[in-house]
Amino acid sequence: MKNTATRYTGNKTFDVIDAASPSPGKGEVRIKVAYCGVCGTDVHIFHGMMDQRVSMPLTIGHEMSGVVDAVGPEVDGFKVGEKVVVRPLDDRGAKPSDKGFNHVAAALKFIGIDSPGAMQQYWNVPAFTLHKLPADTDMQLAALVEPLAVACHDVRLSGIKPGEYAVVLGGGPIGMLVAMRAKHAGAKVLISETNATRCQLAKELGFEVVNPINEDLVDYVSKATDGGLADVVFEVAGVQPTIDVMTEVAGIRGRIVLVAIHGQPRPVNLFKFFWKELQLIGARVYEPEDYDDAIQLVADKSLPLNALITSVAPLTSIQSVFEQIDQNPDGMKVLLDCQA
Ligand SMILES: NC(=O)c1ccc[n+]([C@@H]2O[C@H](COP(=O)([O-])OP(=O)(O)OC[C@H]3O[C@@H](n4cnc5c(N)ncnc54)[C@H](O)[C@@H]3O)[C@@H](O)[C@H]2O)c1
Ligand SMILES: [Zn+2]
Repeated sequence: MKNTATRYTGNKTFDVIDAASPSPGKGEVRIKVAYCGVCGTDVHIFHGMMDQRVSMPLTIGHEMSGVVDAVGPEVDGFKVGEKVVVRPLDDRGAKPSDKGFNHVAAALKFIGIDSPGAMQQYWNVPAFTLHKLPADTDMQLAALVEPLAVACHDVRLSGIKPGEYAVVLGGGPIGMLVAMRAKHAGAKVLISETNATRCQLAKELGFEVVNPINEDLVDYVSKATDGGLADVVFEVAGVQPTIDVMTEVAGIRGRIVLVAIHGQPRPVNLFKFFWKELQLIGARVYEPEDYDDAIQLVADKSLPLNALITSVAPLTSIQSVFEQIDQNPDGMKVLLDCQA
């Protein structure tokens, strides 16, 4: 069976090939991929920043929706034609020392980085990675389940309660999804973002917004909370200025959820942890229940997710898609139509 597949070949280059799509092996399912979103990690790969880890040429991509196309031997519970998303964590190397937290297992492999991903027409994956979607799910929105599940995990670990005041530092795709999920949980949510276009989008989505270039974030939050400051802070920007402000803008016993990936050690004001009894919560990817939560939110159309889709482009235009993402820091989520 013919399979149009894209491959990262190094040096900011993708090729597009007509590969053969093998039948799904034991325990595998073949997915006819509908849409695959481009993640910041995919852009890092394109920039060559993960060449040590990625074995080239490699089909990348992990933010997808699709339909079961064939079921391999020893797979139960899936039928051809069912709509699914993949939770791209291969935890087969998990050990008892991981204490059951397989999503952060020491030997965890990320499908689409450490093994072939979804930016192709047909994709064979282990059946244990699949989550079913309701039959009437919008497949473009379903391609946002993976990043939304990140947000569901972050908000769940924050323990946020209705009426609490949350500050989201960074209004990129992940920050916006965190903000939406926190608002859905009943929190008052403010987004701090330095990009004017993204500030505008956050306002249109109904969030309070501060651009810290123009306005003092801590003053603003202090006034909005009668001096109490934030109950929960989500660090979703990944830069030193947000690390500096997270301990300032958090109130007494504030919980700071670290979502952004910091590639290097950062100075942090530890005095503030002592003084205000702050808590720092690390958050990495998602657990199965976060996928269930994200799927429910997509199926119920509970969140204005459509606003995050900047454009949809054919799979075969992958090279120009990645080049355009580089030129446009305002854009949010670009989806590849894997059957176009
Ligand atoms: N924890 C996880 O499992 C997980 C999963 C996915 C992504 N991430 C990480 O989450 C982070 C956000 O992802 P994204 O795709 O939204 O990235 P992004 O780069 O699109 O968003 C970051 C945003 O922060 C804004 N920003 C920069 N400096 C700022 C400042 N001083 N104050 C306020 N905002 C500022 C940028 O303008 C940008 O809009 C990244 O670090 C990414 O690696 C973590
Ligand atoms: Zn991603």
